[in-house]
Amino acid sequence: MTDAMTVHVPVLFDEVMTAFAPLQGKRLVDGTLGGGGHTRGLLERGAADVIALDWDSAALVRCAHLVEEFGEKVHLVRAAYDTIPEVLAGPVLEKEISNGKNGIGALPAKVDGILLDLGFSSDQLDDVERGLSYHHDGPLDMRLGTHVKKTAADLMNSLREDELADVFYVYGEEPKSRVMARIAVKTRKENPFATTKDLFKLVEQVYPPKFGLKRAHPAARVFQALRVAVNDELAVLERALPAAAHCLKVGGKLAVISFQPLEERAVKAAFRRLCADELDVMGRVKTPAKFKMGKKVVPTEAEIARNPRARSAILRTLERLG
Ligand SMILES: C[S@@+](CC[C@H](N)C(=O)[O-])C[C@H]1O[C@@H](n2cnc3c(N)ncnc32)[C@H](O)[C@@H]1O
Repeated sequence: MTDAMTVHVPVLFDEVMTAFAPLQGKRLVDGTLGGGGHTRGLLERGAADVIALDWDSAALVRCAHLVEEFGEKVHLVRAAYDTIPEVLAGPVLEKEISNGKNGIGALPAKVDGILLDLGFSSDQLDDVERGLSYHHDGPLDMRLGTHVKKTAADLMNSLREDELADVFYVYGEEPKSRVMARIAVKTRKENPFATTKDLFKLVEQVYPPKFGLKRAHPAARVFQALRVAVNDELAVLERALPAAAHCLKVGGKLAVISFQPLEERAVKAAFRRLCADELDVMGRVKTPAKFKMGKKVVPTEAEIARNPRARSAILRTLERLG
């Protein structure tokens, strides 16, 4: 298999490489392997090794060729990125494809860099069976991780009306969340939700086609909300950030690419907490902060023109100082 197996174009590629430069001899974790673009870039620029995680088995299978190409320099692990400390401590229970050895062996407990490129890959979006896109009719699934139990259809058919409204409002910032939840609960009594088309039809009941939509279709918000809920994405991210930061060596960097305001706010808040000095009861600095936040980086116009998926991307970095 080759990179032709993926249609995913890595976002903020040069900026990520620069964030970790110089790469010579560094040990890195790519917590979101996806189509393997960033992992490949890190290896080609001299990283000593990359431990690449994805909670989707399909991503590991798609990137198996990296193991053939880079041998012991790359370890592919099926795991969620909030388990980076456990993966680094080993033994790795969920390992699926490695470098051919039986087990990863003694991986370093601390690394020079960790990358999290949040969300889903274009490969997952294009997979009709995942039900991530309102452009295709497929099962209303939305599970990114192979281990996630409940599908989007399960949530649509089982959550209470107020819970559904909260999902639409909190994770999708959907202004008509309450009315949408009310219609959903009424609809599912007769016709349980099963397909992406069923969900799209619900959105159209609230925003009829004649509504005159100028911006992104509201279905994008509703699909995002359900995907975040199905995969518990925010909770995983909030657990992962401090855990990952503490896996860095002094001088090491954590780089996170977010795509939605919701994720971006969570990343900024977590980084701010990590960058705060510890104060005593008198408000004096007891322990100076061990981390420093870098400036946020956004894609160039040229990148957005080449890859519109990059338009909402924001890269934030955190460096370990002590
Ligand atoms: C935007 S893609 C990464 C693309 C990758 N950087 C590249 O260059 O091809 C996000 C990937 O992260 C994975 N992912 C999302 N949340 C995850 C989590 N909590 N743990 C592990 N993998 C996750 C998804 O399955 C998806 O493959």
